[in-house]
Amino acid sequence: MSKIAIVYGSSTGATEAVAEKLQKALGEADLYNADGLNVEDLKSYDFLIFGASTTGIGDLQDDWDILLPKIEKLDFTGKKVALFGLGDSASFSTSFAGGMYVIYKALKGKVEIVGSVSAEGYTFDDSEALVDGRFVGLALDEDNEYDQTEGRIDCWVEDLKKYL
Ligand SMILES: Cc1cc2nc3c(=O)[nH]c(=O)nc-3n(C[C@H](O)[C@H](O)[C@H](O)COP(=O)(O)O)c2cc1C
Repeated sequence: MSKIAIVYGSSTGATEAVAEKLQKALGEADLYNADGLNVEDLKSYDFLIFGASTTGIGDLQDDWDILLPKIEKLDFTGKKVALFGLGDSASFSTSFAGGMYVIYKALKGKVEIVGSVSAEGYTFDDSEALVDGRFVGLALDEDNEYDQTEGRIDCWVEDLKKYL
């Protein structure tokens, strides 16, 4: 079993609450807020899960602004990354959960990113977080589809187990 860290950036608490649910579903994982995190703390983990909500139009949650350039410089030897992203698929239907794509774009080619998710079952018009028809990570919508969050987390964790 890999040593797992979950890092989340959350403006109003939705991503934080999801990160806590994810921690429970995984059984064993350490939880870090992106706000104020020392990137050195991530060195000892083999499996890193990065989560962010979306702000602006498809932009990354603010607390990641300082952290992401530092994470980009990490030595990812022996590590894997998975992503999750929150959004509002009704009010922001053309930029749904785009925040996690910003992390994906920054880390693509530097580390193996696992845990893409089929877009089946989601209602939205467009998302940058779709690559080859799949979300680059777990997309969640606590504003409109909160009743699906737990099921989506459980399915995702089941899928991630083959990498842990
Ligand atoms: C100013 C603002 C801009 C937003 N832009 C987007 C967006 O482009 N795409 C999207 O899917 N959700 C967008 N959202 C919705 C949030 O990502 C969503 O409500 C999320 O659950 C908030 O999580 P947090 O409390 O962890 O920050 C936006 C919300 C706000 C307040």
